Amino acid sequence: MKVILASPRGFCAGVNMAIEALELALQTLPPPIYVYHEIVHNKYVVEHFKARGVTFVDHLTEVPHGATLLFSAHGVSPEIRQLARDRNLKAIDATCPLVTKVHLEAIRYARDGYTILLIGHEGHDEVIGTMGEAPEAILLVESPEDVARLEVSDEAKLAYLTQTTLSVDDANRIIMKLRERFPQINSPPKDDICYATQNRQEAVAKLAPEAELTLVLGSQNSSNSQRLAELSAERGIPAYLIDGAENIHLDWFEGINTVLVTAGASAPEIVVESVLDFLREKFDATVEVRSLREEAVSFPLPRELRSIAAPRD
Ligand code: F3S
Repeated sequence: MKVILASPRGFCAGVNMAIEALELALQTLPPPIYVYHEIVHNKYVVEHFKARGVTFVDHLTEVPHGATLLFSAHGVSPEIRQLARDRNLKAIDATCPLVTKVHLEAIRYARDGYTILLIGHEGHDEVIGTMGEAPEAILLVESPEDVARLEVSDEAKLAYLTQTTLSVDDANRIIMKLRERFPQINSPPKDDICYATQNRQEAVAKLAPEAELTLVLGSQNSSNSQRLAELSAERGIPAYLIDGAENIHLDWFEGINTVLVTAGASAPEIVVESVLDFLREKFDATVEVRSLREEAVSFPLPRELRSIAAPRD
């Protein structure tokens, strides 16, 4: 068996920063440490931190007054920030700066009297956080069909934003419909779909046609990982989204000679390695790394942690 190992894959700069922030909080601040929602959408990462004493919560009422609380990479609404202040929590904001960019755009458009069409998936943590910035001004658009159903009072004051982890192709289909119906619609100068999402999708789009099966490392609730599996399937290459080697079924590989392996932005390299070891052991697989693009993005630690962090290069 031949394995094509896609690059770039795995951790993005936002996930790296959030994990580093939680690690530093764990090492330097008095326990217990709480995190609002999953720090990143990855089972392995969350279990790793749970085993080391971190408590993940879905409601701030679960956090004792005055305790330390991290906001995850997906960001939170102003309402959650206020609740944290009301409970006198020591909040550490590990929101990815590229998510914060979308929040700031929402605030700016809402302040200028625009109706904002947010292209995204209902119920995703990031979407909940962004909509919370201006709930009265934001409408969620999930599909091209939604566009026809929109009721907008002033078409001259309309803008769209997107979730950072969407399928580029799906988002473009929706944006095309929006531009058809609302030719004057505004949008931010720079894409909201982040560099990491775009680069991982580009790699799968280019490499999947060379394979007969794609394995995407990532959790089921990881939006960008789901999109990678969909993208491969849309190109006729069956894809499985798995947390690790333990989810693999041997019968997937009957008659398969070439497998593409990639990982979503929240999946650690250690799970990729374990899958490669599994394929080497079971199928005598050889691994060829195919790098389509270099990534050199990094984000600073949350402000609240910078004074206790060792200086970084
Ligand atoms: Fe940020 Fe994109 Fe990663 S928005 S958390 S860099 S997937």
